[in-house]
Amino acid sequence: MFRILSKTFTTRNLTWPRTFITTTPLNKRVSKINLSELVLETETSKPVTPLVRKEISTGSIVLDTVREYTKKYPLCVLLVQVGDFYELYESHASRYAPQLDLKLTKKSITVDTIVDFAGFPLRALDRYLDILVNRLRCKVAICEQFGSVSRQDKSALGIQRKITRIITPGTVIEERFLESNQYNYLLSVFPNKDSTIGLAWVDVSVGEFVMQQTTLDALKDDIARIRPREVILPESMKPSDDLLQQGLFDQEVYDPVTRLLITDPNIAISYVDDNQYNAGTAVRTLQNMFKSNALEFSQIELAAGMALMMYVNETHINRKPKWQNPSRFSMHDSVCIDSAAMASLEIVKSLQGRRTDSLIGVLDCTSTSAGSRLLTRWISSPLTCIDSIRNRLDIVEYFKDNTFLLDDLRNLLRQSTDAQRSIQRLALKRGQHSDLMEVWYTLDIMKNIHEKLQQTTSEPTQDLVTSMDPHESLAHYIRDAFDHERIQAKEIKDYGFVNHAFHPDLLQLHNQLDELDTQRLNLQNELRLLCGNSLSLMADGPLKHIIEISSRKAPNLVEKFPHAILLNSTKSKKRYQVKEWTDISVQLGSIESQIIDIESQVFDQVVDKVLDQSATILQSCRKLAELDVLTSFSHLARQNRYVRPRMTHANRTMILGGRHPVVEANLSRKGQTFVRNDCDLGADQRIWLLTGPNMGGKSTFLRQHVIIVLMAHMGCFVPADRAWIGITDRIFSRVGAADNLAQNQSTFMVEMSEVSTILKQATARSTVIMDEVGRGTSTTDGFSLAFGILDFLHNQIKCRTIYATHYHELADTMTGYDKIKCYKTSIEENSLGGFRFVHKVEPGICRQSHGLKVAQLAGLPTQVIKKAESMWNILQNSQVPIVPHLTEPNYDEQKSIV
Ligand SMILES: Nc1ncnc2c1ncn2[C@@H]1O[C@H](COP(=O)(O)OP(=O)(O)O)[C@@H](O)[C@H]1O
Ligand SMILES: [Mg+2]
Repeated sequence: MFRILSKTFTTRNLTWPRTFITTTPLNKRVSKINLSELVLETETSKPVTPLVRKEISTGSIVLDTVREYTKKYPLCVLLVQVGDFYELYESHASRYAPQLDLKLTKKSITVDTIVDFAGFPLRALDRYLDILVNRLRCKVAICEQFGSVSRQDKSALGIQRKITRIITPGTVIEERFLESNQYNYLLSVFPNKDSTIGLAWVDVSVGEFVMQQTTLDALKDDIARIRPREVILPESMKPSDDLLQQGLFDQEVYDPVTRLLITDPNIAISYVDDNQYNAGTAVRTLQNMFKSNALEFSQIELAAGMALMMYVNETHINRKPKWQNPSRFSMHDSVCIDSAAMASLEIVKSLQGRRTDSLIGVLDCTSTSAGSRLLTRWISSPLTCIDSIRNRLDIVEYFKDNTFLLDDLRNLLRQSTDAQRSIQRLALKRGQHSDLMEVWYTLDIMKNIHEKLQQTTSEPTQDLVTSMDPHESLAHYIRDAFDHERIQAKEIKDYGFVNHAFHPDLLQLHNQLDELDTQRLNLQNELRLLCGNSLSLMADGPLKHIIEISSRKAPNLVEKFPHAILLNSTKSKKRYQVKEWTDISVQLGSIESQIIDIESQVFDQVVDKVLDQSATILQSCRKLAELDVLTSFSHLARQNRYVRPRMTHANRTMILGGRHPVVEANLSRKGQTFVRNDCDLGADQRIWLLTGPNMGGKSTFLRQHVIIVLMAHMGCFVPADRAWIGITDRIFSRVGAADNLAQNQSTFMVEMSEVSTILKQATARSTVIMDEVGRGTSTTDGFSLAFGILDFLHNQIKCRTIYATHYHELADTMTGYDKIKCYKTSIEENSLGGFRFVHKVEPGICRQSHGLKVAQLAGLPTQVIKKAESMWNILQNSQVPIVPHLTEPNYDEQKSIV
């Protein structure tokens, strides 16, 4: 485990390797990729050196290696390849064998050295990596073996072992460890002395690289938006073992940044040498990698970026992932959704942690994984630039109005593949023929889309399509090179993937192969006639080029070939070497290996060509993903009757016939309809004070308002009859109670700290919803706080607000506030004393909470309800006010925000 709470691998001596490898990769296929393009410039660059064994040998090469590498990579679980197995030794074995469900045994190395040991076959690697990396959130160092075992004496003297890869939750690229519709971000955090913080994050599986400058106050919201899998921090931030062992509360051990991170079980934390946060090196590296100017980034962003680049390169030893040009995330370009709003509005996951019940679960109608990932980004950082939003809305409207075209496009998009991740696998030398095919399919889809949209009259659509380059000649090149049917069929063979006509020698080699194969068949037929069908001609195996035959029929063979040499004999079978077969078999082997060589060259050649153009292919893939998201919005608008919102610069939001997309979807599954509501916020009614009974629909109304605002800002049509949305800079939400026991904060404390964030950060252009604030304390306290908060929002911040409360008396005390208007939800009673919720929001104050009715509906015993009613009547008739008399505070008008 590398979570800092872990004891086994916690050590002060964290020397994470800082070597950069520029030598030829160790795997069989010789790389022709220009590595210099991606080699980071660093003072510490030096070629990899094999381990120098300074320590006294244990008598076992494998154990020596284990001990050396355990020392060198103290935070990793070490998997050592020994023949056809990966093995764990000593503390790695004793600690992880039970968790991996492996048998823990003892291995005797020498008389004095007996060590713990466990292992599993090579082919089971994925299964165990899944447990180690995904479930246990460990870092894993893979130590592979090179060189071969001597055939004669089975000695393994030529064998060397080297760490070829460090696998961590934030740097995995294998599809099976990744969620196809989610980014897998590795985030580097660089806290500066002045409480500004540099952030840099990358999704290694697609190379997307972003930097941002933030502050300690905003970091929580940034983490909620980015949702990293792994975070790297400077090693100096790691608390000492002493502190950890004292069992203190998190607040006392960790700094504020780490405290934010450790409470999220989905985030793995790693520490790197402080020197890696080096802005100067970053400038040179970025210039080298992207030939671009790094000046647009701040020093702290660059420092975080450098540590990020080094960490990725260190984990992908010897392989250089493709990085896309870094972009800068600016808070001003997107609507800031604070972390509390992100959670309470259930934007990317429900309160129970499910995606399907969240907003994105309902909105995601994308056809591709890349589109689905992009939607996650759009939904957590909607735009603030009105022209960009209108641009997206124009495209959505165009496809919404052209149904046939929309269906055609969505069909095409569904056939495209995740080429971004394929390219990264190819760059990291983990690619296969199927990855090249995926690149070709996707480029081909782009070409088809170009053709379909040639006549488009919509300018923004035209611009989007033009920015998507189908790389036609490259696509043809890939298509011509490979036999895609063969690749698709997933036949397990060493060759046969390259089209014969693609390489001048291949056709001739295949002709020779066919000729030899005919000779083989003829010989086999002839001999089977003579010796029966159990005879087989074998090329490989422990004995090469042999004829295997049943002992009973062996005399027939020897009669035909008196020179046959008997190599091996059992009771039932005999194996012979016969010159006629050996000649054919040797030639077959030689031709096959020539074909394999050529195919391997062709593969490398095509990969090189693809990687040469990877920047523009990736750029086109991103545009394709945009088209996917936008057409999914068109589809959604048609399917759910969403309308185009009118975006304005006014500080006013007017929604007619608005609906909550998720509640509506749930109700429609049950055959029920959602009650539409209007809302006009801003101008003369900047604050809506909403009262109503429990279950009356207050929370739903609040949420639906901000959700519609959010959807409009990302360029999506909205669930309403009509909507005018004034651009907002931030969305705040304080809805419901969220206990945070892990941080040792009470519900009320959490509630107040969230309200405090809102009051500190909201501007006149923000949109705020507050639901039942002050519920977690006494009536007098809660009421007074609600009053104070409303007053502040009205007189100081002046932003659009909907405030739901069960204190209907509050409405009476707000009469002097001219921008506050009262609205209510209510129930409909019938003559028999029954009632139903109508969920309609209307002007007025709901003077009855109907709490007893709701309790009755919930099945409280009649006796309890009767007693409660009698108390209710006493209270109603009593003269004692439930809420105190309040006077208005006097703010300094000069400081108020206009
Ligand atoms: N406009 C509406 N149309 C139909 N059903 C609604 C509507 N608003 C709320 N509901 C239903 O009523 C339930 C309670 O609503 P909620 O907003 O939690 O009420 P409150 O916050 O006033 O207690 C919701 O779960 C939803 O099923
Ligand atoms: Mg509620």
